[in-house]
Amino acid sequence: MTEASLEVCILAAGMGTRMRSPVPKVLQLLAGKPLLAHLIETVEKLQPARIHIIVGPEGSAARERLANTDVNWVTQHERRGTGHAVQQAIPHVDSQSRLLILVGDAPLISLGTLQALVAERAPLTLLSVQMDDPGGYGRIVRGESDLVKAIVEHVDATEDQLRINEINTGVMIAEAARLAEWLPQLSADNVQKELLLTDIVGIANRENAAVRAVVTDDAVEVTGVNSLNQLAELERELQHRYASALLAQGVHIIDPSRFSLRGELSCGSGVRIDVNSIFEGEVALGDGVQVGSNCYIRDAVIEANSIIRPNSVLEECHVGVENQVGPFARLRPGTVLGSSVTIGNFVEVKNSTVGTGSKASHLTYLGDAVLGSNVNVGAGTITCNYDGVDKHETRIEDNVFVGSNAAIVAPVTIGEGSTIAAGSTITKDVARGVLALGRSRQTSIDNWKRQE
Ligand code: UD1
Ligand code: CA
Repeated sequence: MTEASLEVCILAAGMGTRMRSPVPKVLQLLAGKPLLAHLIETVEKLQPARIHIIVGPEGSAARERLANTDVNWVTQHERRGTGHAVQQAIPHVDSQSRLLILVGDAPLISLGTLQALVAERAPLTLLSVQMDDPGGYGRIVRGESDLVKAIVEHVDATEDQLRINEINTGVMIAEAARLAEWLPQLSADNVQKELLLTDIVGIANRENAAVRAVVTDDAVEVTGVNSLNQLAELERELQHRYASALLAQGVHIIDPSRFSLRGELSCGSGVRIDVNSIFEGEVALGDGVQVGSNCYIRDAVIEANSIIRPNSVLEECHVGVENQVGPFARLRPGTVLGSSVTIGNFVEVKNSTVGTGSKASHLTYLGDAVLGSNVNVGAGTITCNYDGVDKHETRIEDNVFVGSNAAIVAPVTIGEGSTIAAGSTITKDVARGVLALGRSRQTSIDNWKRQE
């Protein structure tokens, strides 16, 4: 007999009104990624035949945001309950398959738990969890041989049932053909006046179909997000998990409660990360790299033994070995620093390459520039790369010394070993080994009387 194929249905048509936010709930960001994207990523590892996502009529934002994922978007035009939501998927599901149903607002479900559910072979298997405070959740009512007799929603529960600590997570797996029979039997005769998916448990029991429950002991993985408070709690919990994993690998995160990862961070040995830094996209830190407090680092490679001092912002850049960056440095996209480079405070570098041993220590803008090795850029120097229409390149060759407060008007090349006098405005190419002055001479007017 061939294995029934697996399809997945994610319920995401809820309005998320309790978030009190203009952003649709499933697009709220957790660790920098929409809630729904976390789920899709996990589910894809199960290699299901298809993923169906149920969205409301206003679901176009989710479709657009996640346009590059390979899923089947299904619209639930009227929000008539979780049972009604699954019903919308049924015409798209192969009747020979098994359907894994997930709730879009519980993003941290683990692959292991999903695999445990998929491994169960009952016509219907639920995922449940024990909770000290089960208030608000649907309670699991068990019968003989631990089979599940019913799920009773909090508002529909009796005093006795309210004392049950095992609750329904909203996640379940069922044979698609059985679901197609059970769903039309749902009625809205309950407090919510909705077609509740959970009522299929009672229906299955009436038809003598076994209902099992897999219990997870990790409440976090099934925590649903209904408010921004819950989202913030889940964010902290997830960040704590990321930090713990990095600490276990030997990354010295000084305070895991003040660490934020919004993407992938790979680290060599002996890396130290001070408080309140944010890592986004793909970031790689080489051996011995130190990141000071309050840095924002996105899509960057920082090679061995470089030091990023506090309050620096690095985006889409490459920092070579043994650099010193910051404090208060800004490396913008396209910045490539060689080895032993110094980029000091209030220095902005954009789309520029800086060679080995070169320094711009204070108050400088390097844009669309190529600097050779051992160049010294004095404080207050600006590469004037923009003429109001186009961007132009500045080339500064090896061993050039640029005095303070020079304005270097691109396109221009400064020849190897030359010196630019402080305060110069350089508009023409400078030959090798010369002193270039581009400023008016200082004069004095004798016996000058200030106006009274
Ligand atoms: C649901 C379960 C409850 C469980 C809890 C766990 C039901 C009836 N109840 O309750 O047993 O303890 O989750 O968090 O299933 N949705 C739609 N269309 C609809 C209604 C809901 O797509 O018409 C989606 C929502 O976007 C959400 C999910 O279904 O992702 C669950 O709906 P929600 O209203 O949050 O159900 P709960 O009351 O939390
Ligand atoms: Ca919910």
